[in-house]
Amino acid sequence: MSIDIAIAGFGTVGQGFAEMLALRQGMIREAFGTEARIVAAFDSSSAIYSEEGLDPMALVAAKAETGRVGDEPLVDGAAFLESIDYDVLVEVSPTDIVTGGAGLHHIRSALGAGRHVITVNKGPLALAFAELDTLAKENGAQMRFEGSVGGAMPIINLCRESLMGQEIGSVMGILNGTCNFILSRMDDGLPFEQALKEAQELGYAEADPGYDINGVDTACKVVILANSVFGIDCSYEDVDVTGITAISEEAVAMAAEQNYCIRLIGEISPERLEVSPRLVTKGHPLSVTGTLNVAQVNTDLAGPISISGRGAGRSETASAILSDLLAMMRSFVNNK
Ligand SMILES: NC(=O)c1ccc[n+]([C@@H]2O[C@H](COP(=O)([O-])OP(=O)(O)OC[C@H]3O[C@@H](n4cnc5c(N)ncnc54)[C@H](OP(=O)(O)O)[C@@H]3O)[C@@H](O)[C@H]2O)c1
Repeated sequence: MSIDIAIAGFGTVGQGFAEMLALRQGMIREAFGTEARIVAAFDSSSAIYSEEGLDPMALVAAKAETGRVGDEPLVDGAAFLESIDYDVLVEVSPTDIVTGGAGLHHIRSALGAGRHVITVNKGPLALAFAELDTLAKENGAQMRFEGSVGGAMPIINLCRESLMGQEIGSVMGILNGTCNFILSRMDDGLPFEQALKEAQELGYAEADPGYDINGVDTACKVVILANSVFGIDCSYEDVDVTGITAISEEAVAMAAEQNYCIRLIGEISPERLEVSPRLVTKGHPLSVTGTLNVAQVNTDLAGPISISGRGAGRSETASAILSDLLAMMRSFVNNK
């Protein structure tokens, strides 16, 4: 029996995941004796479904040629999901942290029907983590979201699986590559505005960089870690947030004189949910440069453990989805 996947959103990450599934199909068959097939995909205006399975590379080619993944018009993603048969929803539509966007409807629809969900879409998780977690449990479904924090950096699985048995006192990390790039360029002497412009020219920052530089994106990740690692039922409003827009060249230079750099740090602990620029000693694990993400997990038995990696990107983010899919498939085998 195959594992049948529906993909909601077929942009950078959706296509990256389809490509990765094609690349790793042999490995999956060898490990689990079964196939993981895409049976459905939809974007903002079109959809496609075949219970026989779809060729991932043909979907990517169709999207490149026509701008649409399918030839059926899409009216309502949640209604489409309710009309088809699948096992796992991969939800990679745009993040909307104000309403949860279409992604929240897709995830509710899937979990409500007992389908498993893998997502890297921060909006639904930052707004409604507890609701979705409960919905998943009530319906015997799994919800995994490794790529929603730190992209390819496996911070959630590290805390929830590899560090099982430890008491985690806090997690502190750089969870937004755009801000880290800007602050690293300010270390090189650039003023904020110029560093931001460079980030935009290189494609690291959006035309509207507000969510990144005001700390909102990092705060969403703080919420996801707080809920999933610490079991704190919180949402975005519970995080104390300061962004990087007020950091001056002078402040960066003064910090450098004392052997510090300034980094935007997300801190999660039972006592504190905070995003703020902090002084970090040069050479400390949290003093990474460029677009890298990093996290330090403070444990009672093993002390501090640090992890670093690329926080975004087509194949990097898709690799986190693949890892969630394989973990799910392993649990299906173990639970047989
Ligand atoms: N890119 C990264 O490195 C990265 C890293 C971590 C997390 N994420 C998250 O992953 C998600 C996808 O990011 P992305 O970079 O792939 O974005 P993207 O390239 O803009 O793709 C978004 C896709 O969603 C589709 N879409 C828009 N509205 C939709 C709706 N109502 N129903 C279904 N599909 C809809 C778009 O359709 P059209 O193609 O028709 O416009 C597009 O195919 C976002 O939530 C993002 O925050 C991305």
